[in-house]
Amino acid sequence: MRKKVSIIGAGHVGASTAQLLAYEGTVNVVLFDIAEGVPQGKALDIAEACPLWRSSSSVKGTNSYDDTAHSDVLIITAGFPRKPGMSRDDLLNANAEVVRGVAAETSKRSPDAVMIVVTNPMDVMAQLAWKVSGFPHRRVVGMGGVLDSSRFRTFISSELGVSPSDVEALVMGGHGDQMVPLPRFTTVKGVPITDILPAEKIHSLIERTRNGGAEIVSLLKTGSAYYAPAAATCEMIKAVLFDEKRVLPCAAYLDGEYGARGLFVGVPVVLGKDGAERVMELDINKEEKTGFARSLSAVKALVEKLSI
Ligand code: APR
Repeated sequence: MRKKVSIIGAGHVGASTAQLLAYEGTVNVVLFDIAEGVPQGKALDIAEACPLWRSSSSVKGTNSYDDTAHSDVLIITAGFPRKPGMSRDDLLNANAEVVRGVAAETSKRSPDAVMIVVTNPMDVMAQLAWKVSGFPHRRVVGMGGVLDSSRFRTFISSELGVSPSDVEALVMGGHGDQMVPLPRFTTVKGVPITDILPAEKIHSLIERTRNGGAEIVSLLKTGSAYYAPAAATCEMIKAVLFDEKRVLPCAAYLDGEYGARGLFVGVPVVLGKDGAERVMELDINKEEKTGFARSLSAVKALVEKLSI
């Protein structure tokens, strides 16, 4: 049977993710939103492109959670995006209320799904969705590191004048201002950027990566990024649906790895049909550990604010 992906939140990120999945043509997509007509209209628009893409996907828009039943993958993009001057953390209370409801409604209808959380502040929302859903922790993952790494790759490729596809990057930690881009684990065709670029240049590329989301918010003025977030989400969805065992940085539950326990935060994981099947522990040095610990404390502070 064809795999089913339900996307909750038919806004910019949700609809763009639906579009990318339909273009791939291999899965059926359900697009859910509380706004009446919006998911139906966007889904119909995407469905009408499928013949042109030679896609076999079905795309259904809905305001009923029952249509999401028996999904293989659930995507949570419902909530509010940032406005200029806001940090991701400023969204905490409003989005927590949304994610609480969404996780409860979807998890009971798709008890075997893998849940991918996109709504910000993402690491905390992943923790909340896991708690509310009652899912085993490996079946809840957050989308942040894939996007942050893609931003880092973009900036490195334009600095060096090489194809972005020949740059691999790793960004760990929370999907917030304290994220931890790791230059020693960031390479151009296998060569670490620390061997290619001067330290000051790497520092400025790291700062631009940390501010990557805010840079787009300040340009758009009315919302936050969605093309790259949707592409990053899609990469994770495919890793799960096709059991690809991709090594991707995702927010995953730490159970002693990297010296942390009981928290969701960005680390490299093996992503397959069972979700974050394994956390990969890298041999990070003292400075990297300090950055990771700082980021972890920022996530922990938000988790404590919500009393999850
Ligand atoms: N249930 C379902 N959908 C909801 C709910 C809810 N309780 N509350 C809001 N929504 C829907 C809105 O109706 C809207 O269509 O979520 C959608 C959000 O879409 P946008 O406002 O376009 O936001 P978007 O840019 O897609 O970002 C969504 O992803 O990247 C993060 O920071 C971003 O937290 C934000 C989320």
